[in-house]
Amino acid sequence: MFNTMTLTKAAGALLGSFLFFLLMAWASSALYTVGESQDHSGGEHEQADMMSAAPGDLLAAAEGDGAAAEPEAETMVVLGDGDAAKGAKIFGKCKACHSLEGKNGVGPHLDGVVNRAVASVDGFGYSDAMKAHGGEWTLEALNDWLANPKDYIPGNKMSFAGLKKPEDRNDVIAYLQEHSN
Ligand code: HEC
Repeated sequence: MFNTMTLTKAAGALLGSFLFFLLMAWASSALYTVGESQDHSGGEHEQADMMSAAPGDLLAAAEGDGAAAEPEAETMVVLGDGDAAKGAKIFGKCKACHSLEGKNGVGPHLDGVVNRAVASVDGFGYSDAMKAHGGEWTLEALNDWLANPKDYIPGNKMSFAGLKKPEDRNDVIAYLQEHSN
């Protein structure tokens, strides 16, 4: 004899496993197109397959999404075409260490830095890495340097992470250029 309790339990269990199966099927089809495992004749076996397949696919799908989201749409900037007024504000990040009035601080003064020889300010104690670098601070060099100082001249002692946005670099370079003639 079935009593209500047994029925409810049985129905619950059935519904529960059905829901679980639906969820797994949904999850795996959401992550990848199921292909040949779409055939549902497998029953229990099928479900086990999906369960064992799911975690790896989850990971792969997550990685795939990350890679797809990676390429940032970089705004086109023309070097030397920055906005000096905006650059003056961005230079606020440099001020703690750099002056534009010919005085050295934590960093060398930056007046006339555009096209100035690298590590050429008298009386400033440059790092060996900086002294060994050579060349001039062309617009391109400044742009690369400010994007990632650590990568551009490994071992230098400027404690500054860099300016990620191309526009910010271009603007601050325009500001430096104004103070270079
Ligand atoms: C925390 C201090 C600090 C900040 C902030 C900083 N710098 Fe520097 N900067 C330095 C130091 C120190 C050096 C010298 C590095 C060396 O000798 O290795 C340097 C070197 C430079 C040089 C090379 C100068 C030369 O004579 O060859 C340039 C150009 C420069 N910084 C630009 C900037 C700009 C632009 C900013 C802001 C966006 C900035 N720095 C932010 C400390 C700083």
